[in-house]
Amino acid sequence: MIKREILLEIARHYGTPVYVYDLEQIRAKFRKLHDAFSSIDTDIHFAVKANHNPFIIKTIDEEGGKFDTVSLEEVKHLSELGIDEKNILYTPSCPSKDELKKALDTDIAIHIGALELLEWIGQTAPERPLGLRLNPGLDIGGNKKIATAHQGSKFGIPWTLKNRILKTVDKYRLRITGLHTHLGSDVSYDEVMRQSIDFLFEARSYFPRLEYLDIGGGFKIKYHPDDKETDLKALAGYIRGRTKKSGEAIKIKIEPGKFLVAEAGYFLMQVNFVKKIPGKTFACVNTGFNHFIRPMYYGAYHPVENLSQPGEPESVYDVVGNLCEEDTFAYDRKIARIRENDILVLKNAGAYGYVMASHYNLRPLPKEIVVDGHRIIET
Ligand SMILES: Cc1ncc(COP(=O)(O)O)c(C=O)c1O
Repeated sequence: MIKREILLEIARHYGTPVYVYDLEQIRAKFRKLHDAFSSIDTDIHFAVKANHNPFIIKTIDEEGGKFDTVSLEEVKHLSELGIDEKNILYTPSCPSKDELKKALDTDIAIHIGALELLEWIGQTAPERPLGLRLNPGLDIGGNKKIATAHQGSKFGIPWTLKNRILKTVDKYRLRITGLHTHLGSDVSYDEVMRQSIDFLFEARSYFPRLEYLDIGGGFKIKYHPDDKETDLKALAGYIRGRTKKSGEAIKIKIEPGKFLVAEAGYFLMQVNFVKKIPGKTFACVNTGFNHFIRPMYYGAYHPVENLSQPGEPESVYDVVGNLCEEDTFAYDRKIARIRENDILVLKNAGAYGYVMASHYNLRPLPKEIVVDGHRIIET
């Protein structure tokens, strides 16, 4: 947790809007995950799509983490940071054959999520070890935009096509070394996650050359104070139980994004002015969904606090951005009284924040600052 005075100093020195990341917080989350899974053979692959800041990648690498990517650009970024290809998973969604061809020539682990692509690889590179992204057809609730394993989803190969999958694998003697499911992001997981693990352990029996099962990411964090973080120890215990039942140990892979970095990110913004209309008060800030899209795109909740006047009595505000469409970071939120030029912090902004920012309205991108103990570094 970065102290208020430090966040204010960063806002003063570097300007706003600005993202600030706490590397110590990321290390603590990595260790929590690592400890929870310590009794099973697990690789932790950080989902780079959540935040590709080089300092964060380096920190996770130093902790012993591996990486999960969705594009060859992410793979290149990791290679430039010195990450070994053997530690990289690549699970593209609808890749071009040109991109896939390039990926097949590397040592990264590739997860294929379409029968059409499996058939094509069978014809062009049948000897290449592959993972399969399977769709177990589970309804996971939560926000539809981040649910990826229900029937009719574009992600993964539906297990209802099992016979065709097995036929294709057999026809080209494909070497299937991994099975993968990713249910989605930030969903109320526990029961459906267990079903997905059962699914993988059952599908395992059809693929004799398997080296790992990958249960994906999506572990829940406390975006809202009433949210419940995924019970990782219980999840690891369940996998241990399933492994024992199956009688044969196998490596497990997980792909956390939000869990490792969301809470370590702080998005600082400045209040341009406070606007009152009958029945409503708006805190109008100097940024918008072009810089942090989660509230508008996913209806996501993020705590917002007034760093400049923390002791003031609370009032109710809509915190709104400066774009010419609905652009609201927080609705009807109790916040310590806000005045012009105050610095506000939007919390839990470390995942899918800066990486989804754009130049919409020709606004420049925010800066990114990392805090590592006493060190403050512009990235
Ligand atoms: C294939 C894959 N793995 C892992 C993740 C990480 O999800 P989260 O950030 O919710 O942990 C995602 C993101 O949706 C993903 O698409």
